[in-house]
Amino acid sequence: MNKKHLYIRTYGCQMNVRDSEVVAGLLKAEGYKLTDDPASADVVIINTCSVRELAEQKAWSEIGRIAKKSQVTSHKSQVKPLIGIIGCMAQNYKESIFQRAPEVDFVVGPTDIAKIPGIINELVRGSWSVVRGPALFERKIWETGGQNRPEEIYHSGFYADKEHAFVVISEGCSNFCSYCVVPYVRGPLRHRNCEDIIAEIRRAIEQGITRVTLLGQNVNAYRSSLKRKAQSAKLQRKVQNDREVGFVDLLRKVNQIKGLKEFSFVTSHPKDTSIELFQAMAELKKLKKYLHLPVQSGADRILKAMNRGYTRKFYLELAHDYRRIVKGGQLTTDIIVGFPSETKEEFKETYELVKEADFDASFIFKYSPRPHSAAAAMADDVEKREKERRHKLILDLQKSISRKKRCAKD
Ligand code: SAH
Ligand code: SF4
Ligand code: F3S
Repeated sequence: MNKKHLYIRTYGCQMNVRDSEVVAGLLKAEGYKLTDDPASADVVIINTCSVRELAEQKAWSEIGRIAKKSQVTSHKSQVKPLIGIIGCMAQNYKESIFQRAPEVDFVVGPTDIAKIPGIINELVRGSWSVVRGPALFERKIWETGGQNRPEEIYHSGFYADKEHAFVVISEGCSNFCSYCVVPYVRGPLRHRNCEDIIAEIRRAIEQGITRVTLLGQNVNAYRSSLKRKAQSAKLQRKVQNDREVGFVDLLRKVNQIKGLKEFSFVTSHPKDTSIELFQAMAELKKLKKYLHLPVQSGADRILKAMNRGYTRKFYLELAHDYRRIVKGGQLTTDIIVGFPSETKEEFKETYELVKEADFDASFIFKYSPRPHSAAAAMADDVEKREKERRHKLILDLQKSISRKKRCAKD
């Protein structure tokens, strides 16, 4: 039998990029071959993002395009690819996706991706001939109720890049920033076991990987117990059995891995970022001197309404400590303009903060109300044009800061 072809389109953050690889790895183990042409695929998967309305709109249009094409194909030759929607929109809209896009065959949330090969097998009932008839249009499967991902999904060893690997260290988020959908679509923060992370990196290195990015929504909150190791070491005292490995310990362990040339991490939350982390960044040879530290706003009232857990002063001191300790380190940020009730003066505070923090790059977003999130209950009262104006002002400011930095380097 010919190999089945899989096409995956990915939207959203690096976590989604990694999840697509994981899914591709699981399906490759079942004999699938990746294709970059959706028209020749037997299975089409769209891995979606819900972080802003625009991200969702893009995915809905892509789903529409693929569905339309598949209708044409199925009409002409009775071949329809299986279409799956996975990722954060799958979790956000669950089975209601089938109403909006009846051509979709399966919907799988981020925590349930391990089930995808089984779902596909169930849909085709072990026989691909079924795909070539209309029967498929009548069956739908959705999985969005999972609690935990099995560790094994990270074992396929498939990385899209030959030299660089994204390695998940924690899943989900429990911070509940008031504008953000992530805790609702990705579930609460869960930490991967420290030994499992190290083992994955070692296996990746055996395959030729030399650079790694550790991934999590808030990597600084990373915690894992050293249980397995402690149990095997007879002489260890009980108190050591409960020893926890924090994020900085994990960085030190990763730095020691033989064959690894360089590593970095995203994303850091200011409230959990410590001087100890900066010292480790200054000291650890393989750790890239790069920190993405989203500030979101420079106004204390807005930071509070966003539930960020720090003040403008705290952030600026942290940025200052970083520059002081991590010599030559890069600092980047995320900013939201037009959060509900943000005044012109409050926006100005963000503008001034960008100047003061002297970021190497800023990612600037216009506030977009998200389902489930606390801020969705607040009036989205900064007008679209005003959001665009604020967005452009910071964009231009950042451009001039970046230009100046480039000139200083040359
Ligand atoms: N866990 C990371 C990334 C979250 S999503 C973090 O905590 O920084 C990436 C960025 O999208 C966020 O930093 C924020 O700037 C932006 N974002 C999230 N929700 C948004 C919303 N509702 N409207 C506009 N931008 C949003
Ligand atoms: Fe969203 Fe905040 Fe969690 Fe980042 S830390 S994923 S912005 S809730
Ligand atoms: Fe988007 Fe989900 Fe990442 S909402 S930003 S793909 S965690």
